[in-house]
Amino acid sequence: MPVISGSSCRNIALSLATELGMHFIPAETRRFPDGEGYLKTPIGEFESIRSEPVVVVSSTFPDNGIVQTIMMLANVGDIQRGDLTNLKREGIQNLEDVGRRVILAIPYYGYARQDKRFSAGEVIAAGVIASHLSNSCDGIVILDIHEPRVLESQEHPIKCVTAVPEIASWLKKEVNPDFILSPDKGAVERASRVAGLINVPFSYLEKRRIDAHTIEHTPKDLDVSGKVVAIVDDMISTGGTICRASDALRRQGAREVHAACTHGLFTSGALTRLAQHVDGVHSTDSLANPRAVISGAPALARGVRDLLAIL
Ligand code: R5P
Repeated sequence: MPVISGSSCRNIALSLATELGMHFIPAETRRFPDGEGYLKTPIGEFESIRSEPVVVVSSTFPDNGIVQTIMMLANVGDIQRGDLTNLKREGIQNLEDVGRRVILAIPYYGYARQDKRFSAGEVIAAGVIASHLSNSCDGIVILDIHEPRVLESQEHPIKCVTAVPEIASWLKKEVNPDFILSPDKGAVERASRVAGLINVPFSYLEKRRIDAHTIEHTPKDLDVSGKVVAIVDDMISTGGTICRASDALRRQGAREVHAACTHGLFTSGALTRLAQHVDGVHSTDSLANPRAVISGAPALARGVRDLLAIL
């Protein structure tokens, strides 16, 4: 069974293929001078794509990731439908329609934070993207989506999976924290599960976002004096949330502070900023980044296996 990816998710796609014992197909990608993307599946892979269900690995981030995801799903769909017509008349032009059998595995679901209409006239972008993608495949697996509720009522099954077990075992081995903190209410479930797996106490902060770069935490007494604390969140973008949470922990005597997340976006010099506030930053490889030390592939593999069992 083949796992195919474009350029952006190649490493995690390769790990997923290994994890599932599947064959990996690197799609050929490049850019035209105006920046538009190009995608091609090698002719030699058509047979395996037509003979078994295919796992397409692609993230909806950055924006060109959405375009690449749409192109890959359409491309695999054409090959399975037997529509191979081309102007150069390379290879066989038409084959029997073997029916679409495609699972989309999304390491990082970009736009997930646009999950509500906060103000009149806004677009619930996370839902719009989910409907488009769901129409083009038979099921979707998403790693640690910010808010799964936005995926309700899509045409095909969507399986949300989490790298919490892998994050917990990495933190236990490399950091050995005495305390886990969620920097806001949104990350409570994730962070408390990490705390449960490591068997250490847990608490959370209440956060108010003033703008994309400014956040405030409501002061709270935390029993962290002399302790090694790991802050666990779904994603780190500017690093503002983690830096403010770390400051609160340091003020209350935390000895060491680490940050762990599934999605390391690290925008606007986040890693430099974080280095001044925390002792270590640990992320999965859902996005390529210098702190990608935890594999997201086992979680995606769990989701793919679950979907294959019901499709
Ligand atoms: C928001 O609710 C998310 O879970 C993260 O806490 C947030 O997106 C992190 O963003 P930043 O690193 O820019 O503070």
